[in-house]
Amino acid sequence: MDLLLQQISAAADYLRALSFEQPRVGVVLGTGLGELIGHIKISHSIPYHQIPHFPESTVESHKGQLILGHIGDTPVIAMQGRFHYYEGYTMQQITFPIRVMKALGITQLLLSNAAGGMNTAFKKGDLVLLDDHINMQPENPLRGLNSPVFGPRFPDMSRPYDPALGARLQAAAASHDAEMKTGVYVSVMGPNLETRAEYRFLRMIGADLVGMSTVPEVIVANQLQLPCAAVSVVTDECDPDNLHPVSIEEIIAVAGMADKKLSSVFATVIKGL
Ligand code: HPA
Repeated sequence: MDLLLQQISAAADYLRALSFEQPRVGVVLGTGLGELIGHIKISHSIPYHQIPHFPESTVESHKGQLILGHIGDTPVIAMQGRFHYYEGYTMQQITFPIRVMKALGITQLLLSNAAGGMNTAFKKGDLVLLDDHINMQPENPLRGLNSPVFGPRFPDMSRPYDPALGARLQAAAASHDAEMKTGVYVSVMGPNLETRAEYRFLRMIGADLVGMSTVPEVIVANQLQLPCAAVSVVTDECDPDNLHPVSIEEIIAVAGMADKKLSSVFATVIKGL
């Protein structure tokens, strides 16, 4: 635990030494979703491997750099590429950047991801605001010794996604003529996509969307009492009764098509924070 605290301090100190002002908003960009970077007046782009104790992204579609800059007047810190459990990292590694961003002073966190749409009302390219989640990953980032610095041992999860941030995202989407649905996200380990029987099961337990990320970061954000919101881009339609094969290339391509819309919505919200 002390080691983790020291590592967080070392990473935060390294970033503070770049003498960028205190970031207000943290952003985690999901698979194929990097266009928000184009909205940032960039002060620093730092490859993850230069930051002490940061894991390195192993997935090609994830760039692996931390961006410091401004959107409007709002100082932001954005992760271009995140870490997934299926890459072999521990949950503590996956969520390390969230703790570092919080140590730097962010007061809000926005996350995006690419997800399979199991709700038949969802179509490829749709934006869906997460209203709640189900954690089906085999591990929890809060397992093990807990420091009071992080927050409570047993964090409340009755409202894991901040309603006020969610309302801002909905309003921003409306201002861009982009429809934003809402749904429940289930996180699985991956990296394989699901079988028809698994989609049927995940739908039955109450999930509208399935993906391989986000939930560990959101659990840690909740423990840190850091308000967060997350938006999924539906990259494939997962109707078990009419399932078509899907490849990661297609998932990335569909995410790319919705990226502009999502990035405009995020930028609008961030400017107002
Ligand atoms: N399943 C799991 N993760 C995903 C999917 C999916 O269908 N699509 C995008 N990420």
